[in-house]
Amino acid sequence: MWRIEHFDQIDSTNTWLGEKARHGAAEGTVAYADFQTAGRGRLDRVWEATPGSSLLCSILLRPPLGEGELQLAVACVALGARAALVRLCGVRPDLKWPNDLMVGEKKLAGLLAEVVVTSDGFAMVVGLGVNLKSSGSSDERATNVLAEAGVTITPRALLDILLEEVEWRRRALENGEGTMRLREEYERSLATLGRVVRVQTHDDVFVGEAIGVDHAGRLVVQVGATRRTFDAGDVVHVRGETS
Ligand code: BTN
Repeated sequence: MWRIEHFDQIDSTNTWLGEKARHGAAEGTVAYADFQTAGRGRLDRVWEATPGSSLLCSILLRPPLGEGELQLAVACVALGARAALVRLCGVRPDLKWPNDLMVGEKKLAGLLAEVVVTSDGFAMVVGLGVNLKSSGSSDERATNVLAEAGVTITPRALLDILLEEVEWRRRALENGEGTMRLREEYERSLATLGRVVRVQTHDDVFVGEAIGVDHAGRLVVQVGATRRTFDAGDVVHVRGETS
């Protein structure tokens, strides 16, 4: 199902693919680059990586989901990335809701999911940056495959296995049974569950215990006597507190 476009250098694979999606690009279009001059992270952050140090890719999905359920499409890519890393190098990152792959408290990879509304419905551009080796920065909150597993893997090798792992998960979203299994895998892989979390939304901050994900992949948090559901927000695991 994949059509892969490679760039030696680009501003941002997400920006490029978002533009293609607006002009009707097919589901399964993938952009990957050796270097981005304007890589973007979540919450308007910059995503920087030296040439060849990371897998930098974006995947276009047109899942049969409503707007409120699109986190499940992002989960396909996050879980696919996790499974690909296990297969290629034995590193098994946990997911931090909504979109980070973590080894302990250190970030190995991040996802930036963007919704494009087209006349055909919703398209999702899911961008993924995986640190394969040190990018030279001394960010102590980040890690990479070489540091964790002692092996060098190429971006292309990881991309090929990633796409295999994403493909069957994306197909699972075609039916209720498959969607349920995907949600179960998502819950099993989330280090966030059972932890006390602080969720920063656009206009508020909530602290409580993350107790599950709902049918649409949204995070359910027990905040005092109230059960709240979040579909976006920056989740911080509050250090040292588990249920
Ligand atoms: C985050 O953790 O904040 C998300 C980082 C996402 C980075 C990837 S790299 C490939 C794709 N293109 C971008 O500009 N961003 C994503």
